Amino acid sequence: MVKIIGDVALVRPEEPGDAEEIVRRVLKRHPRLKAILRYWGVEGEYRRPRVEVLWGSAPESITYREYGVEFELDPASLMFCLGNKFERLRTAAMVRSWEVVVDMFAGVGQFSVPIAYHARPAKVYSIEINPEAYSFLVKNVERNRVSETVEPRLGDCRRLVEDLGQVADRVVMGYIHETLGFLSYALRALNEAGGTVHIHSLAVRGREVELEKEAISIAEELGYEARLLGRRVVKSYSPSRVHIVLDLFAARRR
Ligand SMILES: C[S@@+](CC[C@H](N)C(=O)[O-])C[C@H]1O[C@@H](n2cnc3c(N)ncnc32)[C@H](O)[C@@H]1O
Repeated sequence: MVKIIGDVALVRPEEPGDAEEIVRRVLKRHPRLKAILRYWGVEGEYRRPRVEVLWGSAPESITYREYGVEFELDPASLMFCLGNKFERLRTAAMVRSWEVVVDMFAGVGQFSVPIAYHARPAKVYSIEINPEAYSFLVKNVERNRVSETVEPRLGDCRRLVEDLGQVADRVVMGYIHETLGFLSYALRALNEAGGTVHIHSLAVRGREVELEKEAISIAEELGYEARLLGRRVVKSYSPSRVHIVLDLFAARRR
């Protein structure tokens, strides 16, 4: 499968043919490309892509436009998932103008920037641990003129949500590995009245319900009332797993 982001093509390892054939085929369809990269997936805490240059030279950054928002990023070192496009818009469409949002895994602003741009909420705190992703986050906030709304913060969300206190009407957890391990921190960020947590996670196909049971049970054990507002399959991840998002309302039990 070939995905085009800015002027770079990302080619999956299962793409048929040798490197030369792939390059010829891709350039025939997309003659203006600057580089073709073989994309082996993402790894590590920063979700850094593992890529191999098949053709051209990868630019230091590309610009990608989506629903009126512009993102700048280095596709060879930072993750940007095109398959989450609708989810970014869906999340932004739920946000109300009075809300405070905490984005715990902001990346280059994949959720924070569209939320600020389309919904204009009171505040978006965008937390990112990788300095390289953070520098693009700051650029993307400025580029889309949402600096008054989005406050980028560099560091580990587990520590930084403590600094923010109970401020959030909504928390976005856009990190699909071991996400439930971070749920207690998301809950701590919610304000007294409670709020919605968007929990992204991988789930075994056909066993998605187990994840929501686990999320609710974690929240209840921590003293919250939790109710599932919705569940959606964002995309297929592998033959056996799907990327899902749970919209969970939680409020501290009185
Ligand atoms: C997979 S990317 C996803 C970005 C965006 N949320 C999305 O869903 O498209 C996850 C990001 O979370 C960041 N991250 C991982 N652990 C973190 C932590 N403990 N605190 C803050 N950011 C973290 C990574 O550096 C990476 O940029």
